Amino acid sequence: MTDVGRTLDHVSPFYITTPIYYVNDAPHIGHAYTTVTADAIARWHRLLGDETMFLTGTDEHGLKVQRAAEENGRTPAEHAQLTSQRFRDTWDSLDVAYDQYIRTTEPRHHVATQELLTKVKDNGYIYKDTYAGFYCVGCEAYYVEDDLGPDNTCPVHEKPVEWLEEDNYFFKLSALADELTAWLESGAVRPDGKRNEALGIIKQGLDDVSISRTSIDWGVPVPWDEGHVFYVWYDALINYATAAGFGSDTESFEKWWPHVHHVIGKDILRFHCVYWPAMLIAAGLQPPKQINVHGYLLLGGKKLSKTGLTQIAPADLTGTFGVDGFRYHLLRDVSFGPDSDFSHEGMVVRYNTDLANNLGNLLNRVATVVGKKCGGIGPTPNPESPLAAVVADAYAKTADFWDKMQPSFALDATWDIIKAANVYLEQNEPWKMEAGSPEVMNVMGDAIEVLRIAAILSSPALTSSTDEIWRRIGLEGSPADQVLPGAAQWGGYPGGLEVEKGAPLFPRLKVEENS
Ligand code: ME8
Ligand code: MG
Repeated sequence: MTDVGRTLDHVSPFYITTPIYYVNDAPHIGHAYTTVTADAIARWHRLLGDETMFLTGTDEHGLKVQRAAEENGRTPAEHAQLTSQRFRDTWDSLDVAYDQYIRTTEPRHHVATQELLTKVKDNGYIYKDTYAGFYCVGCEAYYVEDDLGPDNTCPVHEKPVEWLEEDNYFFKLSALADELTAWLESGAVRPDGKRNEALGIIKQGLDDVSISRTSIDWGVPVPWDEGHVFYVWYDALINYATAAGFGSDTESFEKWWPHVHHVIGKDILRFHCVYWPAMLIAAGLQPPKQINVHGYLLLGGKKLSKTGLTQIAPADLTGTFGVDGFRYHLLRDVSFGPDSDFSHEGMVVRYNTDLANNLGNLLNRVATVVGKKCGGIGPTPNPESPLAAVVADAYAKTADFWDKMQPSFALDATWDIIKAANVYLEQNEPWKMEAGSPEVMNVMGDAIEVLRIAAILSSPALTSSTDEIWRRIGLEGSPADQVLPGAAQWGGYPGGLEVEKGAPLFPRLKVEENS
């Protein structure tokens, strides 16, 4: 096979991140969408043999955390410790294989934040001034009066904002418009619609932004002025540099930076696609290589209609769909970029179609027919198989779509080979062939080879069931340990291995009529 799937975009090393989530919220399916997507992309890059680092974590400073802690009779540190653990537990339960989990309360992060912002200051991009304005604690943000709702309420939280007046340090964002425009025009933000949104923000004119607070103390202290802490967003963004080694491990930082690929939701586009690259440039560092911005999951369908999306924990769904079924749905049914409907009904349809009827059925047929007609031993694939070309084509598409951060299209392309193998079986009807005949050996060798390759290509989504497919067709190790593109080359199944028929991997789900 050629070097399809090895474009410059993911030359090793590959560093991928999620946002660091606010500890106050319980992990919900919106957080899970971002995290599972980043996890799957990281897994794809590990398959390509890229040296990969996947970072997630929690955002633990700010007024929101300070107040929630007080309400619960805890110190902010105790509160953050308890609530951040919920995120780790959720990611563990979803088979999210992060390499690092960062907490902004870690000492290494304080060091990195202070060092990076000191560079920004030394380069002349920070000055002191007085700030007065309407502040929403929920948003951790100031609002101008025009943007407020009735009776001075926050447009997002619909609760009264507070009037705050304080001495602040300001970041000279206004001085960096040209650099930011050039960076955006180089294609650093995907998809295009989101890049244009960021360009639009710059075109509207950039004001300098306040980056410190004196009104709270739960944050990273400003090293040159006691009594100030950095505003939570400016410490939060720096987490990506901290985890790469900034401020603690220069060698590591030089290796991973700026090969960073951020994955974020559209709600935090301004911070990531404008403020963050500006801070880096002002500090004399490289802006991120790529920022991938996705839309929002919106609840649709009947069954979940009375629930808020943020009320749905992944565990509410993994009971019915399994961890792999849940992951598959997020990756396959949500197109990366636009907003997307999320419904229980849609999950059932997708699960039944792709997992029960296609992949599950192929595995079941292979195991059954190999058991009855091939003495339970998997035959070798036919080098001249018509399926070989289908696989080569699907591999090229799969690799290209993962590279473009489009998991739904990547999985769709992978499923082409599963569907083709099922059609191939229906056309050849190996179950009617004579046991042990060269014909049946040929057909079943091809079908089992498709299963092997499908297990590798879908392993970023289906983390445990692909291991089980691998085991049942007699292979050792894990599909996740294979290296692409070689492992997807036709003819890799060695034959002569015992094939096991087990219980259905994806039992069909009933479609509920009036739920
Ligand atoms: O903003 N659909 O944290 P946060 C899809 N701490 N994704 C969703 C979603 C939905 N309905 N709801 C939330 C913060 N998300 C800051 C980030 S980063 C330096 C600091 C996901 O807990 C999506 O990724 O509010 C969104 O960007 C993120 O959760 C916001 O998480
Ligand atoms: Mg939020």
